[in-house]
Amino acid sequence: MVGKKTRETGRTILISSPKGGSGKSVLARHLLVSAAQAGLKPFGLDFDRQQTLTKWGARRDKTREAFPDFAATPIEAAELQNWRGALQRRNGYDLTIMDTPPSVEDHLPAIDGLGVAADLILVPAVCTQDDVEAVGPWIRMLTEKGFRAAVVLNRANRRTSSFARMRGALIKAGPVCPTEIPQLEDIHVPSIKGLTLLDYSKSRGIAPFEEIWTYVRREIGL
Ligand SMILES: Nc1ncnc2c1ncn2[C@@H]1O[C@H](COP(=O)(O)OP(=O)(O)OP(=O)(O)O)[C@@H](O)[C@H]1O
Ligand SMILES: [Mg+2]
Repeated sequence: MVGKKTRETGRTILISSPKGGSGKSVLARHLLVSAAQAGLKPFGLDFDRQQTLTKWGARRDKTREAFPDFAATPIEAAELQNWRGALQRRNGYDLTIMDTPPSVEDHLPAIDGLGVAADLILVPAVCTQDDVEAVGPWIRMLTEKGFRAAVVLNRANRRTSSFARMRGALIKAGPVCPTEIPQLEDIHVPSIKGLTLLDYSKSRGIAPFEEIWTYVRREIGL
């Protein structure tokens, strides 16, 4: 049955947002690395035709050939039209992270199906009016459908009044992860080699990702 959580399929997180460029793939790869570093067996399912996560994974595999100490994060590309079949591939993994394309409104039945299978839906949102206008109704709808979901604020600058305003507006719409991801100019640099900030113990910016991982683990009971 779809959505049945057996030990074989482990836990599942769906990352979904109606807005493009909100940080879905960045969050997906940091969660995959967090899980691997915690000694879990993570698995990435990339439903985006752009295959941003899959390509990152291929670069990571290449890097790991020379530096095998970087944790393994297997990733497979999947099609939203065949979401049921894709879910079968989770077997044997502790945590599956599902990355999706931005145009969720065009794939509502698939997103619904993946949502049912997920223990938690994370909705990254950049702190702008445009993002809040798109994400507010989305998180409200997910919550009304009975899904466990939370917004993750991204590219946040706590010192601005607009950040507080956007955060306030989203809190009224649905659950918001207590830690936000700040604006990090160099976040794309480790990605060139298929890495994340978490792969460098001294990198600036790892603390928010560690906190988000702690939050996520608690939410899904992992
Ligand atoms: N916290 C951040 N600080 C600075 N840049 C960021 C941050 N988060 C994401 N970015 C940058 O924003 C861009 C979009 O991020 P990402 O690819 O994760 O978004 P996405 O939601 O997956 O996009 P798409 O909808 O196209 O799949 C990337 O270039 C990424 O490096
Ligand atoms: Mg993406």
